[in-house]
Amino acid sequence: MIKEARPFVKWAGGKSQLLDIIRDKYPANIQKYCEPFVGGGAVLFDILEHFHCEEVLINDINTELINTYQQIQCHVEELIEQLEQYQHLFLQADTPHRKKIFSEKRDRFNSLKNNADEKNKLEQATLFIFLNKTCFNGLYRVNRKGVFNVPMGSYKKPVICDGENLRKVSRLLQNVTIQCGDYRACYDFIDSRTFVYIDPPYRPLTRTASFTSYTENGFDDDEQVLLGKFVDSICKKQATVLISNSDPKNTDENDDFFDVLYQNYQIERVSAKRMINSRGNNRGIIQELLISN
Ligand SMILES: C[S@@+](CC[C@H](N)C(=O)[O-])C[C@H]1O[C@@H](n2cnc3c(N)ncnc32)[C@H](O)[C@@H]1O
Repeated sequence: MIKEARPFVKWAGGKSQLLDIIRDKYPANIQKYCEPFVGGGAVLFDILEHFHCEEVLINDINTELINTYQQIQCHVEELIEQLEQYQHLFLQADTPHRKKIFSEKRDRFNSLKNNADEKNKLEQATLFIFLNKTCFNGLYRVNRKGVFNVPMGSYKKPVICDGENLRKVSRLLQNVTIQCGDYRACYDFIDSRTFVYIDPPYRPLTRTASFTSYTENGFDDDEQVLLGKFVDSICKKQATVLISNSDPKNTDENDDFFDVLYQNYQIERVSAKRMINSRGNNRGIIQELLISN
């Protein structure tokens, strides 16, 4: 069986497990596609594999993630070469030595983070994938100062360089416009022919679950309300819109936040397996929301 392209990083809120349900909500034909909060791109790659879109725009506020998409798009062979070297170095080392390599790569990644020099972009992307594949839980998390601070994970033989998948991803990204910034910058692209999949940072199910920080800036209830207004504005343009979020009723059955915010839309509750709190001991089947116009 030919394997299809899939996300090249593990990403908090990744949609691979929900793909079968989300797929049912795609329009019959997708000519233009826009994903303003692309993250790991599980839905993006599924759509690129199955539809011949004329125009595609993806966006995310995370600079390092978007740089990695751009490097895969334009320099995939150089990226694979570097990543294979990192993989070789890491896999042949024992645990104390691996910790040293991980910590050096993490320091280097953080030192390059605020350095916009074009010549470092490929190295930044290589470090980004390396850290994602070797860190604890494969999560991207930064502290308030924007420093990536996830410790090393305990994988015995992590696949750091999946060249076959990276090449497939690169091929699919060839005609995709890749943009870094706030989701509102996608507004002009969206028209009546566009399918827009919106997967913003989740509204935390519990206060402690808000540990997941994709960027230095959080995404609070005020932001969710502003996003609701953005959704209204693109629906006025007659775009086809699908939105995901966590269902606050998982923890408080009286919490109607999204039922009120999206009262003019169809709201469906679907089951998903995910981690509810930061300690990871509260994994279970929970409801997620799929909202459509
Ligand atoms: C739930 S994740 C998306 C997960 C993705 N669908 C997947 O399958 O991996 C949310 C994404 O929104 C991004 N983000 C947060 N605030 C944003 C903003 N204001 N504009 C655009 N993207 C933002 C985060 O960096 C993160 O990648």
